[in-house]
Amino acid sequence: MSGRIAWLARRAARILCVLLLGAGPAWAADAPIPRIVTHDGRHALLVDGKPFLILGAQVNNSSAWPAMLADVWPAIEQMHANTVEVPMAWGQVEPQEGHFDFSFLDTLLHQARAHHVRLVLLWFGTWKNTSPNYAPSWVKLDNRRFPRVITRDGRMLNVLSPYAKSTLDADRTAFVAFMTHLRKVDGARHTVIMVQVENESGMYGNDRDYSDAANHLFDGPVPAALLQALGKSPGNWTQVFGKDAAVDFSAWSISHYINQIAQAGKAVYDLPMYANAALRDPLKPGPPGSYPSGGPSDNVIPIWRATAPSLDLVAPDIYFPDYARYMAVLDHYARADNPLFVPETGNAAAYARYVYAVLGHGAIGFSPFGMDFTRYTNYPLGASAKDGAARVAPFAPSYRVLESVDRILAQASFDGRLWGASEPTATHEQTLDLGAWKVRLGYGQPQFGEVPPKGNPSPEGGALIARLAPNEYLVTGRNVRVSFEPGAGHKGIHFLYDHVEEGHYQHGHWVFRREWNGDQTDYGLNFTDQPTVLRVRLGTY
Ligand code: DGJ
Repeated sequence: MSGRIAWLARRAARILCVLLLGAGPAWAADAPIPRIVTHDGRHALLVDGKPFLILGAQVNNSSAWPAMLADVWPAIEQMHANTVEVPMAWGQVEPQEGHFDFSFLDTLLHQARAHHVRLVLLWFGTWKNTSPNYAPSWVKLDNRRFPRVITRDGRMLNVLSPYAKSTLDADRTAFVAFMTHLRKVDGARHTVIMVQVENESGMYGNDRDYSDAANHLFDGPVPAALLQALGKSPGNWTQVFGKDAAVDFSAWSISHYINQIAQAGKAVYDLPMYANAALRDPLKPGPPGSYPSGGPSDNVIPIWRATAPSLDLVAPDIYFPDYARYMAVLDHYARADNPLFVPETGNAAAYARYVYAVLGHGAIGFSPFGMDFTRYTNYPLGASAKDGAARVAPFAPSYRVLESVDRILAQASFDGRLWGASEPTATHEQTLDLGAWKVRLGYGQPQFGEVPPKGNPSPEGGALIARLAPNEYLVTGRNVRVSFEPGAGHKGIHFLYDHVEEGHYQHGHWVFRREWNGDQTDYGLNFTDQPTVLRVRLGTY
């Protein structure tokens, strides 16, 4: 059975199962609640008690309505995503104060279960790309009760101030109502595995709020808990943080606010929660305000982690297509105290290969933005194609393979036996150090012969390698040559590919298709644009 036919058969069996049983997926009823665990500086998102990899797809902002879901599911299916990220807008669920409407959430849950995908819900509340545009009208039009940020020169920004208790109370009340409903309708199923609290908080064009309330706090002492976490001596914000005082003050203020919302939500339903960041340029950062000052940008991660313990992580939205910037962002956010998750990235073809490097950095998940068939495209951030299928196409082949081995990879990542890389542009070769072995990745080589790599016509290569046993590896990749070699501890030995099998996993069991040998292994393991999984056993003589 060819890979494609086998895959179709698996898919058909799953659909048949739903039709016959008329029920939800196998992961139903009373499984343990999702949570994030950390061991030896590595992290895992446990779903149904086991490490899970989010192979995500985020829908467009205005696709979170029942009538739009028909344009969502075909994209998700074609992409082979296992998780969909969908907004949950404050204005939509509480159009009138105290009157809640969770009918969209109910519809979404029902349809997500039928499509066998998990959900990450995005709370668009006080902040959505810094503005309150997703807050209800009774909030965003009442500036007296819900004051906005004031700039240094006295202008009002379309950003709610994080110092107004009335705003915090109103947002928190709505968020708690949402989490309470979610626990009621999904608490035994865990279709929803994580919640994003707010969206890209901070403020553009300004470094901090200059309202009286803000000035008063800014001139006062830096909170002792923050000083202790950062190992700093007491003083006011300027004394402690110098030239960074304004952005650090904003980061503390916003993270403190969001933490209180997350904490209250977790008190009713303890799902993993995170906040996402609109990034500053990681290589040539501009001043605060050129990026959202106070949001969880790379310069203030320690402040966010110290001030918002109810958040499991802060996450980068990566819209830098170039390799150097992308890797710099991953290095900033993959930390022992911060599980890496990429909740948004561009949906142009150049981004598709980054799933390999993101997972190679130990991430719990990856998700391109704007994956539906509503014909909206956020070009030039993402792809120019309005045709949704064209946007999905570059991501689908990798997702199709990764979906079939997601649990294996997630466990390997948590154990520290997963490596991955994406095609760079300045060079066309990379080396991964696996300890006993090392791996050379070459991009843009013919499949036959020792010809120097010259890069793929457009950068689209990548590879992932998981160690299954001391000399045995699961290898997958796309448009890349993967060549094993003895590592540092193995120098001077003779080695060969003892056994290379191509196949696929079905319900966690390996299904053999063929053996690779001869031309197929004499010049490394050459992955094309066909989704391929190999199990490789190395030997010495
Ligand atoms: C990042 C935001 O978080 C998304 O909601 C969206 O607005 C994109 N930017 C741009 O398409």
